[in-house]
Amino acid sequence: MSEHKEKKVTARAHANIALAKYWGKRDEELNLPFFDSVSINVEDLYTETTAVWNEEDVRDSLSINGWEVPAHKLGRIQKLLDEIRRRAGLEGYRCVLTSRNNFPVSTGLASSASGAAAAAMAASVSAGLSLNERELSQLARIGSGSAARSIPGGWVRAYAGSAEDGSDFYASSLFGQHYWNLHIFAILVDTKPKRVSSTDGMLACQKSPFWNAYMETAKHHADAAQNAIFQKDFSLLREVVHSSTCQLHALAATASPAIFYLSPKSLEIIEHIHRQSQAIPVCCTLDAGSNVIVICEDVVYPFVKNDIIALGLPYIQSKVGGGTTII
Ligand code: PMV
Repeated sequence: MSEHKEKKVTARAHANIALAKYWGKRDEELNLPFFDSVSINVEDLYTETTAVWNEEDVRDSLSINGWEVPAHKLGRIQKLLDEIRRRAGLEGYRCVLTSRNNFPVSTGLASSASGAAAAAMAASVSAGLSLNERELSQLARIGSGSAARSIPGGWVRAYAGSAEDGSDFYASSLFGQHYWNLHIFAILVDTKPKRVSSTDGMLACQKSPFWNAYMETAKHHADAAQNAIFQKDFSLLREVVHSSTCQLHALAATASPAIFYLSPKSLEIIEHIHRQSQAIPVCCTLDAGSNVIVICEDVVYPFVKNDIIALGLPYIQSKVGGGTTII
């Protein structure tokens, strides 16, 4: 393995926004979801991570935008690195991960997805592993459930599988990034880190009295989203995106203690977009945070953009993005 010593590898991974959301873990240790999810990669939200293994350090390390993450906070990234070290036979080696995001982290803009996907690819290639896309998506899942979907490009589905060891879980592209010319706006309602992590939120929601009812509906969202995308039917897509989003946030409010990822400002924007979506091809979604993601068809792009500018909030504009690559 010594030929991989000091081999620096940098990967770029895009954040992804779930259209049919993953929420809930059938196995917390393995980070396995209950049901399938569907997302789009976001071209202009990305993480670039450099990995290098060496024999001198006493522990693995990760810095994000210059901030050194304390060892006890490496969490799932530690598990990811342990798995790569085991597979590559690099016992005695430690990994240095240096990561940069071009957008605010931990605010519900899927920085954990792009972060874990970039770390999985950079660290595994630097360790000398040559994994295929399916294997990489499984590896990225160890770091963050949604990270699996940032490995393939474009429109992506994560298949939950049913094997206890997670061997049949994987993510793959449904369609490439240029399949459907949609525009994405990430409206930055709040750039402070969210108070409740996705993992804590999911585990709390699994104890909600409404969990089973939620599951019964949410498990159908991935098929509905895939069908809408296949037909390029925006009104069908809007229906599933709004259901998936509102059901997740309504469920969160029924956890004990209740979780409110939304802020009054996000609700105001959601209501506005829902009203507009009755007339034009626009919809919106939020992950576990208060920032609102607006998606629209090309034909209404100038109108929607002006409307967003009028909100007076910072926003990042993007198209659908590609998969994780070595740069
Ligand atoms: O991958 P995690 O653990 O950050 O969870 C992601 C959860 C949501 O973003 C809310 C939904 C999703 O499918 O991305």
